[in-house]
This record gives sequence, structure tokens and C-alpha cells, in this order.
Amino acid sequence: MQAHSSAFDSMPIAPGGEGLLGHNADFRADRLGTLRRLSEVTAPVLRLSLPLPGIHAMVANHPDVVEETLVDKARLFDKSDMLRFSLYPLAGEGIFTSNGELWRRQRKLMAPLFHPKALEAYAPDMVACSRRAIDRWRDGEELALAAETTRLAMAVAGKTLFDADTFTEADDLGRALTVALDWAGWVIGQPIAIAHIVARRRLQLLSEQNTGWLRDAALWAERKVRGPAVLVGARGRELASSIALLDERVQKMIDERRRSSGEQTDLLTRLLAASDQDGTVMSDRQIRDEILTLFVAGHETTATGLAWTIHEACKDRRVYDEMQREADSVGDDPGAADLEKLDLTTRAFKEALRLYPPVYIFGRDANQAVTLAGYDLPRSTNVMVSPFVLHRRRGLWGDDPERFDPDRFLPEREAKRHRYAYLPFSAGPRICLGIHFAYLEAPLVLATLMRRFRFELLEEDEAEPSATLRPRRGVRVRVHARR
Ligand code: HEM
Repeated sequence: MQAHSSAFDSMPIAPGGEGLLGHNADFRADRLGTLRRLSEVTAPVLRLSLPLPGIHAMVANHPDVVEETLVDKARLFDKSDMLRFSLYPLAGEGIFTSNGELWRRQRKLMAPLFHPKALEAYAPDMVACSRRAIDRWRDGEELALAAETTRLAMAVAGKTLFDADTFTEADDLGRALTVALDWAGWVIGQPIAIAHIVARRRLQLLSEQNTGWLRDAALWAERKVRGPAVLVGARGRELASSIALLDERVQKMIDERRRSSGEQTDLLTRLLAASDQDGTVMSDRQIRDEILTLFVAGHETTATGLAWTIHEACKDRRVYDEMQREADSVGDDPGAADLEKLDLTTRAFKEALRLYPPVYIFGRDANQAVTLAGYDLPRSTNVMVSPFVLHRRRGLWGDDPERFDPDRFLPEREAKRHRYAYLPFSAGPRICLGIHFAYLEAPLVLATLMRRFRFELLEEDEAEPSATLRPRRGVRVRVHARR
């Protein structure tokens, strides 16, 4: 507990942000460059300059402050309005975007399904999907690896979530998801999103400061503007038709499962059962939101992580050869029990997530006035956390944070590091629900791929910050069949 706290406005300001639109313009012009500049500043907290009166934003720029925000004071923060707005069409009030009691209930219901033991049953599906994905590769063929890992991770998600066998990006469901996810990446920081957030804040205040019909009207209007109110223009129309398709398909799957014997072991079946056990049945809308949340949260993140792992391993002969050896040691049919033999493979995946965290930035909004790192934050202050920034901070990661080095994740080296210096899955009560899923899937997929093919990197790629931190050129590789 701090004895004295300082006013928010006395917090040091982040570099840049000089233009009329402040840091928002910097982020829109060069998201990654702006983050790189932040990683060079060591002040634990930094204020962001925004042109809107009454809107406050800052960066949690040190692992201690991250811990205070995400762990110690987690209850005082909600998922940010900006994130909720961008993902609302897709994920609605699903576990990723919801807050408060609804989130707590859903997390409690869903956590057992994502326990490492419960997930082991999905290992054969993960390996089978990987095999099927590479069956069509030809010796010497040139590929955009990220597109392949996306197809593969989508197949894994389709199989484990809905028991769907023919799930590929070619499916219109896959395309619709990509449209909605791209929209979410694009809309962040756009004037329409900012206007929405300002409108919500004003309505919140109006409902708190009034009683009677005015309060009711403000509450009603506030609920109305939660979703994307205006889906105009070509982009908006494309999003609207994608969402309509997703709604229709997911509803069909829910109806089928409700009618079926319940013998399937996919996550949709388990989700329906979990709600029944709780006594309160989840509505179809809630199930729809959770299914799409899991689909989106689960496949693109893992797919980009896999592509970056191979990208980095190809540049380091020693790491590559050892991963290859591990892949050969587990044979053609690896399972959950083989994970310990895939030790370097797992560490390489972790290190790729350090350099290229798929969720490179996320945020929280204070749900009341809060003191953080000794500063008084007005209610609704947005606190930005960027794994990309912290993962590339000199000092936290030695003198050479840009270097790929899976040995950083040897237990003795991990023990010496700040627990919250590594955040690809976030931290605290809202840590990624699928963390064990990802740590099961990634090594199994990598082993299956590397046993059958040798990868030759054709050109070094660079990160492109969209919905996730994708490789700009998709990681161009040539694949060589191994005999
Ligand atoms: C490399 C792979 C993955 C990465 C890097 C990743 C990253 C993250 C991050 C950073 C968050 C928290 C964001 C925040 O605090 O605002 C999160 C939440 C979440 N992730 Fe993942 N994720 C991955 C894989 C998965 C998988 C495979 C699933 C499901 C099958 C999944 C499901 C979820 C869910 C449901 C949440 C919301 C949890 C909550 O708020 O209670 N993720 N993920």
C-alpha cells in the first residue's frame, strides 16, 4: 500500500504522441514502431496522450505493475471497452469479452474442460489433423507456412470443438471467422470505435447521476450501444453477412447436439453438459458466444505461434537439429505422454511466443477509481499491457533480447526471471483458458511436421501487427520430404 499517491496527470508521458490526435495517431501510423519505442523506456508507468477530455489511458510498463493490474487488483479492472467493441460481433458476451459475475460463472463452468488431464483425450485428434494437413505437401514444394498452420489449427479446433472432420479454411465458416477477426483488428482505434466508447461512458455517467425514467433510458441506451451499432460501408456489410452465417451454422450445431445421444466428447457436447450440471442451463446465445470465442481464441494464436517457431528454428541449425531429433524420438504417433521428450520443441515454441506474442497488446479498464503504481487512476482509465514491449525489454531478457534462444526457458533460468516478464497468455484470474491446450497442441504438431518434412526458410519474415502478430509474408518455406 502506497502512503502517498500522485495525480494521474503527473505520470510521465510515453514517447511520441505529439500530434493533434496524440498516441492514437502514432499507433495507427506504426503500431509496432510505437511499441518498440515503449520497450526502450524503463519508467514503470507511462501516460498516453489522447485528444478526448475525460478519457485516460496508460501503459503498465513493468512486470510489477502488470502484476498489480492483472493479479493483485484484478477485481478492480474489466476487459477494455475497446476490445469488447472490436470482438462483440463475434464473441458477444463469451468468456473472453464478458466481465463481472457472468465471466466468473462461465470461467468456473469451463475451467474443468481445459484441465491438462481432460485435454489429453484430444492429443490423437491433434496429431491426426497435422498428418492430414501435410498429406498434400509435395517434396520440394514452396509454401506459405502460416496459411498451412492456420488450416491445420482450424482443423484441430473444428475437430475438438464440434467433432467436424472436414474443417479447412476453404469452408465458408472459416472465411466468415477470418472476416470478423480482421474487422476486429482493423476497428481498434478507428473513430467509430472511439465514438462508441465515449458514448458508453457518457451514458454510464448519466445512469449513475440520475434516477427514474432518465436512469432507465440511459441504461437502455447503454445496453443498445454495446454491440457495433453501425455496420456501414462494404466492410460493415461483409461483417454483417459473415456474422449471420456464423450464427446460422452454430445454431444448427447446437440443435443437432441437443438432439443427439450425447456420446460425443467434443467441447460443444461438454459445454452443454457443463451448463446442465450447474443447474442453470446456458442459453443458446451464450453457447454460441462461447463456441465462437473458443474457435477464434484457439486457432489463430496457435497457428501464428507455430509458424514463428519454425521460422526461428530454421535460422538456428543447433536448435533445428535437436528439434528434429526429438521429433524422431517420439515416432509417428506421439501422445500427451511424449511431451517430456519434446522438451526443446516446447521451449522453442515458448521462445517464439516471446519474440512474436500473438496477442501482442491487451488492455483493462478500471471499473472504479484505483491507485496503481502510486498514481490515482480515475474510473475507466485504460491500462494497456503489451507482451511485445515487455518481451523485448533489455535487462528483463539480458543484453540481447532480440536473439532467439530457447534456453531462456530452462527451469533454472526461468526461476531467476520476474514471473510477469513473460506474458503471452496474460496472467492472473483471466489468464488464457487454453494455455494447456496450446502447450499440448504445439509440440505435437511440430513433432509431426518435422518428422515428415525438413523446412528450408526461403526468406526472413517480419511481424505484421493485425488481430494477432502475423508474419507479413506468411513465412515462405520449401518443404523437403524425409525418408
Ligand atoms: C499460442 C496460443 C495462445 C495464445 C498466445 C493465447 C493468448 C491469450 C491471451 C493473451 C489471453 C488473455 C487476454 C487478456 O488478458 O485480455 C487469452 C485468453 C483466452 N484464451 Fe488464449 N491463447 C492461446 C491459445 C488458446 C487456445 C488454444 C484456446 C482454446 C482452445 C484459448 C482460449 C482462450 C480463452 C477462452 C480466453 C479468455 C479467458 C478468460 O478471460 O477467462 N486460447 N489467450
